[in-house]
Amino acid sequence: MKLLPNDPCWCGSGVKYKKCHKKFDLETETYRKQGYIIFPPSLLKSKQDIEGMRASGDITRGILDMLTDEIKEGVSTQKIDDLVREYTYDHNAIPATLNYKGFPKSCCTSINECVCHGIPDSNRMLKDGDIINVDVTTILNGYYADSSRMYSVGTLSENAANIVRVAKECLDIGIEQVKPYSRLNNIGDAIEEHAKKHGYSIVRDLCGHGVGKEFHEEPEILHYAQPKRKGILLVPGMTFTIEPMLNEGTHKCKFLRDGWTVETADKKLSAQWEHTLVVTDEGYEILT
Ligand code: MF3
Ligand code: CO
Ligand code: CO
Repeated sequence: MKLLPNDPCWCGSGVKYKKCHKKFDLETETYRKQGYIIFPPSLLKSKQDIEGMRASGDITRGILDMLTDEIKEGVSTQKIDDLVREYTYDHNAIPATLNYKGFPKSCCTSINECVCHGIPDSNRMLKDGDIINVDVTTILNGYYADSSRMYSVGTLSENAANIVRVAKECLDIGIEQVKPYSRLNNIGDAIEEHAKKHGYSIVRDLCGHGVGKEFHEEPEILHYAQPKRKGILLVPGMTFTIEPMLNEGTHKCKFLRDGWTVETADKKLSAQWEHTLVVTDEGYEILT
C-alpha cells in the first residue's frame, strides 16, 4: 500500500501522511530491509504522554530520594512501605503495585539473596550489613513510572558493596546503549559483558519492559546477550525500563510459594537498579 503525501496517515491520526508518519516510514524502511523488527508506531508515546510520564517519574524519584535517610538498621520493610504509600498519596498519585495482580503492598523490598518482588513485612527488620532494593512504581494521571535502587544498611561486606556497585554500573552502561535507530539488544549485550567481567551472572527469568500507559507493555528488555539476532530497532518515543538483576553465584532463581518473592537458587547475593526512560531524537531521557 503506497500512500500519497496528502492522504490521511495510516496511523489513524487524521493528519496528512506527509505531516505524520512519512518521515518515520522513510527512516525505518532501510532498517526493515536489513532484518530489524520495527516497533509498532501506534505504541510510541506522544510529547504529551512523555510529559505525563515525566511528572509521574518526578514522584517516583522523590520517593526513592526520601528513603535514603529512612533506611537504616532496625527499620522494618513495612515501615518503608508505609513511607512509600504516604508520600505517593500526598502527591496525588497511586502506588502501582498495591493490589496489582494481588500484590499486597505499595513497593517491593528485596533484601540480600532476594532477587526481586520481596513483600514488605512488619516482622522483617533491617540488619547491619544488609543490602536492600526498593522498587517503586507510581501512577499519576494514568502514567506509570517504574524505578528501583539499592540501599545499604550500616557497614557492608566487600562482597555486598561490590555487587551493589557493579549492578549500578550495569544499569548505566545499558542506558548508554539507548539511541534512535540502534539495536535494542545492544542493551543486554553490554550489560552481560560488564557483569561477566566482574564475575557476576545475569538473571534470565525476569526482564525489563515497556512502560507508560500500563505497568508492563511491549517490548521485553533482556539484560543478557542476544548475539545473533538483529531484533527490535530503537526509535524515538519508545518508553521502557532497564532493570538488570546481578547474582553473585548462579543466575538461577527460586520462586517462593507466596507467589511473589524471587530468591537466588543458591542463596548468594543479588542486586538490581532500575530506571524508566524514553528514546529521544538525540539519544535518551531518564524519566525517573
Ligand atoms: N516494579 C516491578 C518491575 O520492575 C514490578 C513489581 S510487580 C509486583 O517491573 F507486583 F511485584 F509489585
Ligand atoms: Co520494571
Ligand atoms: Co520496578
